[in-house]
Amino acid sequence: MNRLEIVDLHANIDDKEILKGVTLKAENNEVHAIMGPNGSGKSTLAYTLLGHPKYTITKGDIKVDGESILELSTDARAKKGLFLGFQYPVEVSGVGYTSFLRNAYNTLSKTNNMEVFITVKEFHDYIKKNLDIVGFDQSFLTRYLNEGFSGGEKKRSEVLQMLVLKPRFIILDEPDSGLDIDGVKSVANAINYAIENSDASVIVITHYARILRYLNRLDFVHIMAKGRIVKSGGKELAEILEEKGYSWIEE
Ligand SMILES: Nc1ncnc2c1ncn2[C@@H]1O[C@H](COP(=O)(O)OP(=O)(O)OP(=O)(O)O)[C@@H](O)[C@H]1O
Ligand SMILES: [Mg+2]
Repeated sequence: MNRLEIVDLHANIDDKEILKGVTLKAENNEVHAIMGPNGSGKSTLAYTLLGHPKYTITKGDIKVDGESILELSTDARAKKGLFLGFQYPVEVSGVGYTSFLRNAYNTLSKTNNMEVFITVKEFHDYIKKNLDIVGFDQSFLTRYLNEGFSGGEKKRSEVLQMLVLKPRFIILDEPDSGLDIDGVKSVANAINYAIENSDASVIVITHYARILRYLNRLDFVHIMAKGRIVKSGGKELAEILEEKGYSWIEE
């Protein structure tokens, strides 16, 4: 059973309130999209869920399987199964891609009852399967983490990590921004693969209906404005936004 509950969440940066009461529940296998204008607080919500120290929660709660995670560090939250794919992935020079994935996988697999890969070759074979899904060739594995990756390659890199680490709660912050058409399809395929091969619940933050059309499953679309979810609906909401923009929404 996977349940992520965001309850009346308020969060500040310095003394400025950015999240002003966000409530959202994501359960087993559900796919949610969050859309909303620039600056409405979508990335802030994503970072706050993972416990980024820049954000102070002033009210509300975040619960995983019924238990508050507010006191947990970011790595403890990752062990609970939370995963964030960044809007702006960072380049980490000096950290080899494969060893990063292997360390992260091994750390999570100890607590999360995941398949154990004894040899480097076994792990490499496991990654290779996932490389194909995101449309990466093996040469990326011998590079440093994200270093010199193009914008689109960084986005594929985020979803590759998602596939390898098998999270229970997947939060992807604009996984489609800057991607070419094939890239958007690859990222959508990776999300579809994760949904079909696990019970993970997924929250996709995006500005565009296009990626959502490729998803095999989309249960809810939420619109965020000025730090709140102001409207929720089904997938038709994404199409309405694509056509009409945000001006018709009452706040
Ligand atoms: N360090 C900071 N100091 C002051 N304001 C900040 C800081 N970081 C973020 N903000 C503000 O918080 C608000 C929400 O930003 P956030 O990045 O969450 O928006 P977003 O919905 O993800 O936008 P986008 O669609 O452009 O990615 C913005 O008005 C932003 O300027
Ligand atoms: Mg953002």
